[in-house]
Amino acid sequence: MIKLKIAVQKSGRLHDDSLRLLKDAGISIDNGKDQLKAEAKNFPVEVYYLRNGDIPQYLKDGVVDCAIIGENVLVEKGEDIEITERLGFSKCRVSLAVSKIFEYDSLSDLDGKRIATSYPNTTKKYLEKRGISADLHVINGSVEIAPNIGLADAICDIVSSGSTLFKNNLKEVEIMMKSEAVLAVSPKLPLDSAPILERLRFRIQSVLKGRSSRYVLLNAPNDKLDTIVSLIPGMKSPTILPLADENWSSVHSVIKQEEFWEVIDQLKEAGAQGILVCPIEKMVI
Ligand code: PRP
Repeated sequence: MIKLKIAVQKSGRLHDDSLRLLKDAGISIDNGKDQLKAEAKNFPVEVYYLRNGDIPQYLKDGVVDCAIIGENVLVEKGEDIEITERLGFSKCRVSLAVSKIFEYDSLSDLDGKRIATSYPNTTKKYLEKRGISADLHVINGSVEIAPNIGLADAICDIVSSGSTLFKNNLKEVEIMMKSEAVLAVSPKLPLDSAPILERLRFRIQSVLKGRSSRYVLLNAPNDKLDTIVSLIPGMKSPTILPLADENWSSVHSVIKQEEFWEVIDQLKEAGAQGILVCPIEKMVI
């Protein structure tokens, strides 16, 4: 039987959320401890647990068909590999940072300086495009220590909460790129694996739409129904059901998570009462 080979991070910041996404997409994986490859019981996929930095090369070579990977790693090591879905988790920035006491005004302050980074390609391109030439030191971990031990004047690394920079007395001065987890596809994806990838993408899209939406139920006075319905148009149009009190109706609809507070305030102002907001597990449009 043909199986889609999908790579996920073996350990690190994407690992748990990647497996949760597959689980929410109904793919249950037999994952023995320390196993590097696992089969799904109920979907034709094999999951490969790989080191983050190795995944772009495995994709290029067609050793795996697709991968859940940080966009930052893909941009650094996997140029030209196609991204088919943005997955909305593990959001971070790839940024330049300097010591808090460095008087930084603009990028030209880094001209001729030493920059420590695990992202040499991304940094080089960013600086070259802006006419800045710097001396790059490639380090594979604990980059933030470099300015404190005199190894570099600046660093380029990923920033998420900013706490590692803070703890090392550094300040973020330039955001080079914003990143999140993505589903990337090998240019060597076999033709007969493509339909499995499409099924996987459909499931992932349904999970992501569900995650970014909320189901709203509320009671509305009938004379305000038009206003309230216009605020929550939903997927097609809201469901309106009569209440026992003939002057009131129950309205059910779907709203975007990010619009939640604004819409709720407007609904209250329009006279809605008893507003319930529930999570949505999956959403198929
Ligand atoms: C990354 C990165 C930073 C840190 C930033 O390391 O190298 O050190 O996270 O995150 P923060 O802004 O939330 O503090 P990670 O822990 O992913 O491990 P790594 O050093 O192996 O990349």
